[in-house]
Amino acid sequence: MIVLGIETSCDETAAALVRNGRTILSNIVASQIEVHRPYGGVVPELASRHHIRNIVPVVEESLDQAKVTLDELDGIAVTRGPGLVGALLVGVQLAKSLSYVSGKPLIGVNHLEGHLVAPQLSLGSLEELPARHVALLVSGGHTALVLVESFGCYRPLGATRDDAAGEAFDKVAKLLGLGYPGGPIIERLAEQGDAAAIAFPRGLRRRDELDFSFSGLKTAVMNHVRRAGTPEGQALNDVCASFQQAVADVLVRKTLRAATDRRVKAVVAGGGVLANQAIRDALQRALAARDIALFVPPIALCTDNGAMIAAAGTLRLARGERSGMDLNAQARLPLLRAEESCE
Ligand code: KG4
Ligand code: ZN
Repeated sequence: MIVLGIETSCDETAAALVRNGRTILSNIVASQIEVHRPYGGVVPELASRHHIRNIVPVVEESLDQAKVTLDELDGIAVTRGPGLVGALLVGVQLAKSLSYVSGKPLIGVNHLEGHLVAPQLSLGSLEELPARHVALLVSGGHTALVLVESFGCYRPLGATRDDAAGEAFDKVAKLLGLGYPGGPIIERLAEQGDAAAIAFPRGLRRRDELDFSFSGLKTAVMNHVRRAGTPEGQALNDVCASFQQAVADVLVRKTLRAATDRRVKAVVAGGGVLANQAIRDALQRALAARDIALFVPPIALCTDNGAMIAAAGTLRLARGERSGMDLNAQARLPLLRAEESCE
């Protein structure tokens, strides 16, 4: 079963071909980072325009690279939400057109479900990943812990009450004058810094609290800059390392708590922030100490891509689900739709 996955929810125009929901035949990502960099964040109108310009060449390249024709596809999966509505519409519209002309089944996919299944693209055997597990989703738009009972059955355990963790990286980088996107820049500077230099706050510390809060951390960095001036050199490295440590501590503590509370033996982690090696390592260490397996995709599959959408789409198509030509983009789309049950 070969499925084309199309992703345009934010600032990456992406398409991929995946066989049986596991094997990547091609995975093309046209990043718009350079387009948005001068503005310090994603400009929705510019994102839509660049998706329109890039989406057809990106899809063509994904087919060419995989040496697969439209005729040979078994389905077309596309991100239907959540995300920037004008950006999502570009992918949804193209997917509908391709489905219409080829007669291949169409399936709209929740972007967050894509991040949840991304580790499956790198597993040797699916047996390794228990169907019941805890998932940690950490991106520019989301920070959430979810209990996955089985594919498609999601129970929310906690979510951010204000900024997402990736958003905190981006905002802190901006206030330190470092540029966009903040995550990779902060990670690089943090490598040379002392993570214990500044005691930044860890939000919502209560033991049984699985919600997150990162706005206090961002304000603490801002106050530090007001007090001590914009840091440079080693002082800047120390601020970055201390900030990154605060984010890592919170993610690790709450994930561990969720996994032990729910007595699961596996955690899946995904989203752009999991591209951060220090955070990956911290999670790995903490979970391994409790004998809990961590499944996290390779770094290229942590940030937005079409392969994870194809993988989630394949699982949905295999359950007999189809989207109609009335498929629409939804800026806000919860992981568990109201009409779905866990039966
Ligand atoms: O999943 P993603 O590509 O897009 C969304 O769905 O939001 O995540 C993008 C976010 C950005 O906020 C970016 O700063 C963050 O992921 N990010 C990182 C790293 N690479 C990307 N955060 C921390 N460390 C990184 N290395
Ligand atoms: Zn994402």
